[in-house]
Amino acid sequence: MNQQKAYKPIRKAVFPVAGLGTRFLPATKVMPKEMLPLNDRPLIQHAWEEAREAGIEEFIFVTGRRKGMLEEHFDCQFELEQMLDSRGETEKLEKARSCNIEAGKLYLTRQPKALGLGHAIWCAREIIGDEPFAVILPDDVFLAQKSCLAQMVEAYNKTGGNLIAVTEVSKEDTARYGIVDIEKDNGNTVSIKGLVEKPAPAQAPSQLAIMGRYILQPEIFTHLANFEKGAGGEIQLTDALVKLIGKQEFYGFRYEGIRYDCGTKLGFIESNVAFGLADPQTGADVKEMIERLLKSR
Ligand code: UTP
Repeated sequence: MNQQKAYKPIRKAVFPVAGLGTRFLPATKVMPKEMLPLNDRPLIQHAWEEAREAGIEEFIFVTGRRKGMLEEHFDCQFELEQMLDSRGETEKLEKARSCNIEAGKLYLTRQPKALGLGHAIWCAREIIGDEPFAVILPDDVFLAQKSCLAQMVEAYNKTGGNLIAVTEVSKEDTARYGIVDIEKDNGNTVSIKGLVEKPAPAQAPSQLAIMGRYILQPEIFTHLANFEKGAGGEIQLTDALVKLIGKQEFYGFRYEGIRYDCGTKLGFIESNVAFGLADPQTGADVKEMIERLLKSR
């Protein structure tokens, strides 16, 4: 690690949102998974706000069929804004405007078929060009003092290279995640010598699992361009990441905070309860509601 060196800044973030969300059917039959509301805003807005907090300037959505609502959410809704303005409803007007993306800062690219996360990222290659970038999976959300990506950008400014968010999971859960093979554990960061996609507990090289935040160097596109199919017959990002190991600096980053999985029914319920409890406006009432519900069972 070289603390003096200035690394190229992370200005762009990719939001892959072209997946089918099949684990959450029937809710996601028509509604994009990334539009499901967590507390008072859709998942994609949580992700976008996290990116902004981390200093990201350009936002790239990899969208697909039936996903138009995602980009519309970030448009100016003239009629609504005019109506709220004429009624003097300033607080609601502020909320409606809270996710209007500035002109020229939202880029859209399409993934015609959901061939896997790696393929989705590859679809953004021309917009990213030759600079490091962030990837945010909107169905992974974090409750943290400082946003997960902001913590990662801070760490990246010291390490450079590739950085992926990691956290400890139970032995049985290794089969649900990409798992890190640790070369050297430095505490907040670990240098990585390998990655395995969804290993059975007995084969897992550690219990350190990859969560949905990445800072990547543009060389990843060379490896994604091979379109190699991996676990589940999909073009996996993890498989392309493995090819960068040993050629570039590669770190896992242990973030501070709690990650919630909004891609499954149970994870989604848990995250709504957690965000409701953490919200200063609703926290006390949500707690009382939960206690009441538990008592009545
Ligand atoms: P998931 O692994 O959760 O896949 O994708 P999914 O297809 O959305 O959901 P399931 O497994 O069918 O329930 C993580 C993120 O990557 C995007 C998804 O939209 C989600 O935000 N993704 C996934 C794509 O953009 N394209 C793909 O081909 C796969």
